Amino acid sequence: MCGIVGYIGHRNAYQIVISGLHRLEYRGYDSAGVALLHCGELNIYKKVGKVSDLELHAEKLNKTGTLGMGHTRWATHGPPNDVNSHPHLSGDGQLAIIHNGIIENYSSIKEELKLRGHIFKSDTDTEVLIHLIEDIKKEAHLTLEEAVQVALKKVIGAYAIVIIDKNNPNQIIASRKGSPMVIGIGKGEYFIASDATPIVEYTKNVIYLNDNEIAYVKRDAIVITDIDNEIVDNPYIQQLDIKLEMLEKGGFNHFMLKEIYEQARSVRDSMRGRIYPNEGHVKLSGIADYVELFKNANRIIIVACGTSWHAGLVGEYLIEEYARIPVEVEYASEFRYRNPIISEGDIVIAISQSGETADTMAALNLAKEKGATIFGICNVVGASIPRLTDAGIYTHAGPEIGVASTKAFTAQVTILTLIAFYLAQEKGVLPYSKLTTLLTELDKIPDLIQQTLLCDIACLEIADKFKDATNALFLGRGVGFPVALEGALKLKEISYIHAEGYPAAEMKHGPIALIDEKMPVIVIATQNSSYEKVISNIQEVKARKGQVIAIVTEGDTEVKKMADYVIEIPDANEAFLPLLATIPLQLLSYHIAVLRGCNVDQPRNLAKSVTVE
Ligand code: AGP
Repeated sequence: MCGIVGYIGHRNAYQIVISGLHRLEYRGYDSAGVALLHCGELNIYKKVGKVSDLELHAEKLNKTGTLGMGHTRWATHGPPNDVNSHPHLSGDGQLAIIHNGIIENYSSIKEELKLRGHIFKSDTDTEVLIHLIEDIKKEAHLTLEEAVQVALKKVIGAYAIVIIDKNNPNQIIASRKGSPMVIGIGKGEYFIASDATPIVEYTKNVIYLNDNEIAYVKRDAIVITDIDNEIVDNPYIQQLDIKLEMLEKGGFNHFMLKEIYEQARSVRDSMRGRIYPNEGHVKLSGIADYVELFKNANRIIIVACGTSWHAGLVGEYLIEEYARIPVEVEYASEFRYRNPIISEGDIVIAISQSGETADTMAALNLAKEKGATIFGICNVVGASIPRLTDAGIYTHAGPEIGVASTKAFTAQVTILTLIAFYLAQEKGVLPYSKLTTLLTELDKIPDLIQQTLLCDIACLEIADKFKDATNALFLGRGVGFPVALEGALKLKEISYIHAEGYPAAEMKHGPIALIDEKMPVIVIATQNSSYEKVISNIQEVKARKGQVIAIVTEGDTEVKKMADYVIEIPDANEAFLPLLATIPLQLLSYHIAVLRGCNVDQPRNLAKSVTVE
């Protein structure tokens, strides 16, 4: 997704903006640009490619100025090239804009403006917006602030924008609807960004702008109004709990590997203050006020995308198993458009690492309109989804920079496991002794995760054998099935090898036709309720010469006899299988992608947070 950085203060804006763009690279992009204002000169430098390409381009150019902004573009309208990169200028060159989002009615506005003599250089919706603002300002003889308000009322779609006026070196304007924006408050300086990562090294005090709000930012003051020019009094100032070292690789080659190795800590943090094994008690203050609603819910609908959707599937299995409440898991992008039947007794839970995924936001809004009570399970404090929902639970996994989600997934699964146990506890459908046993075992999972990471060497050795595969199949049963889906997604999104996850029993209904000696088949074959059946599936694969990589319980001898490769993980209750079995799949995908020379942290075409539909 596009990344936005803005600065007004007493320091060199270029340095702050460029380092901010580097912090936002993880969001995924294909071009970058900056705008710098100094002594009436508005310098725009923009290039297709990486931020480093932009730095090379600007190396010998004028980079002075204490007011500036920068942008990393993830192309929506118009191919990635220099002209379509942001910032974009108004026709008279007086106004510059950067934008994250999509303006859905840009083409009709563009046609109108063309009829009024506007000439466009790019294919983007963003350039249309700055021309619209310019046109309104001129034709209606309005101030820039007034023209921005009028223009944004005409816009259909999502935006997070920053505007610089060449004739006003003492103000930067920012606004958002549907796309995230954070404003950092410094001493005589302000920072604007798509999320907190470019800001946290300068200040911990931030304001999360709300939809339809406009911020007029000066060096020593900020005024926020809504789109009708109503002042927003005393905007809430959030204290960031992100430490700078969380945004560094900490000696790992990639953020993804660092985040895989952080999972013992992040799973512990997601449980902290929420489980009391000795008292046999779960405490979820995030939803405690709604416990009666949950206990009497007709059903729980989970909406999510990608990895978060896989976590939702684990949640379905566990909540139905322990709390005996019906659960349905929906792709948010499908749910939002199929006119779903939702009744008041329904509870809708959105799972989202970023808390900004457009499809998930839209699904939540739809559920709210239809009368459901909506909750969020998110990793980013203050993101749009937590601010939209009636209540929710933060996963506390810490910033996840790698585009491929790892620690956020296991943290989400941990929260869903806690929700299953909490609801069972509150409904009184789980014997106290059983709950105590489960919580005692869950409390040990972070240590077992640390132990599981020892399989890294085995994963590297196996990765070397399959780095040239063109297809892969992941199989699992029960809670092992969502794990198989997640393993397949990890492999395909960072190594670009086509991979599919399937229920192991489903293989004979089609995918078995794919099995041959070139097909690696990764099977979740740990000792649990479906162990014997999975062994039969492994035999079916071997009978067709498939290459079997089995994730097994340490000490397993049975599967070892038939699989080509085994990766051992510690024994644990079946409920916690996803928290352990996912780790070798993360490591396997990571090593295969590195061996293939792929950009592991910023895979091609992908964005960390898909804030457009
Ligand atoms: C997973 O590795 C991907 N990065 C992607 O599928 C991601 O899970 C999906 O876009 C949802 O993102 P969210 O959790 O931030 O809503």
